[in-house]
Amino acid sequence: MAAMISTSATSRLLDTAGTLDLERVRARFPALAPSPDGRRIVHADAPGGTQVTSGVIEAMSAYLRDHNANSHGGFATSAATDTMVEGVRTAVASFLGGWDDGIVFGQNMTTLTWHLSHALDARVSSGDELVVTRLDHDANISPWLHLAKRTGASLRWVDLDPATGRLHLDTLAVSARTRLVAFPAASNALGTVVDPAPFVDAARSVGALTFCDAVHAAPHVPLSQRDDGIDVLACSPYKFFGPHAGLLSADPALLAELQPDKVRPAPDDGPDRWQTGTATFEAIAGIGAALDHITDVGMDAIGAHEQSLSRRFLDGLSGLAAVTLHGPPNAAERTPTFAVTVRGHSPAQVAAHLADRDIYCWAGHYYALEPMRALGLLHDGGAVRIGFVHYHGATDVDRVLQALADLG
Ligand SMILES: Cc1ncc(COP(=O)(O)O)c(C=O)c1O
Repeated sequence: MAAMISTSATSRLLDTAGTLDLERVRARFPALAPSPDGRRIVHADAPGGTQVTSGVIEAMSAYLRDHNANSHGGFATSAATDTMVEGVRTAVASFLGGWDDGIVFGQNMTTLTWHLSHALDARVSSGDELVVTRLDHDANISPWLHLAKRTGASLRWVDLDPATGRLHLDTLAVSARTRLVAFPAASNALGTVVDPAPFVDAARSVGALTFCDAVHAAPHVPLSQRDDGIDVLACSPYKFFGPHAGLLSADPALLAELQPDKVRPAPDDGPDRWQTGTATFEAIAGIGAALDHITDVGMDAIGAHEQSLSRRFLDGLSGLAAVTLHGPPNAAERTPTFAVTVRGHSPAQVAAHLADRDIYCWAGHYYALEPMRALGLLHDGGAVRIGFVHYHGATDVDRVLQALADLG
């Protein structure tokens, strides 16, 4: 059921110069249409969850309407469910650069990560070390913190430079006792894009596993898990134009080696062994349609468009003396996600001011406790997070800039 990608669909979304045709892209997202009273919302809350295409809505409805059944049955709708799940698994593996038989569907990234962390209990003992970073969302810290507590292991931190929003790689240290190196592909708070190579190299030098949180990166940055040598990678389709769900992608050999908690009758091999209970099949159908959309546009066109949004926003911010940007100052080393504070206004006040102007965004820490702590903002209301994706345009950027300028 995951539709194959047609060249004509692609060409409809790119203009003759090969750049993204914004109006055609936006037409695919029903939530981006003006409201009946003519209001046009800027959904700058994208790092918290993106809007979905009509293809996603239709794929989910069509699954429930035409094929709704549990898997592995001897009748047509069950067989169609199995075919759909396997098709989407292949599409996910290709999107993440992972393995066809290494994709686990779940409720969300956090739940999948906890599940994996419990399976790692058997590999970690007292005195071992787990490496985590101060740039991560807490879903890539707390599961490892608890794993350490259960086993008597300790955490080694990779520090964040608050001035640049980049990790201090000279604090990335491993030893013969390191069992896991966890790191982000990009920061959901500051937009920093992270090169996996130093983390993978460090982990490999001591035989440790690597775990990459690609939730924030997935809609922005091409992912190549296998080529990058990452053992396990997790992300969430609701951040890349799909439904609320989670994905874990791992080397099938590793999935087979570990012993996840499972009920006895559940499959004993393959990624299904890691899925607790019945999968959300309608969500899996939606994930397939979200990936069809991304393939139609292409990560290159998405990246180029987002870079132009970032440059425009950063240029505009440089003229707003009251606004402080936290995180990388250059478009090239970031996603179009911007944490800002405004002199004389709390982040919550700024977000409310923007909401009054039909600009939706988050204020606070967005579960990025460590980055906010490193910036000294954790107990100060955090920061306002403006998050763009490929369906935003210059008009959206300018509206946010004008609204920030209006704060004086
Ligand atoms: C970078 C990052 N990691 C992990 C998560 C948690 O994802 P989920 O809601 O799928 O558990 C989020 C959610 O905001 C996130 O932005």
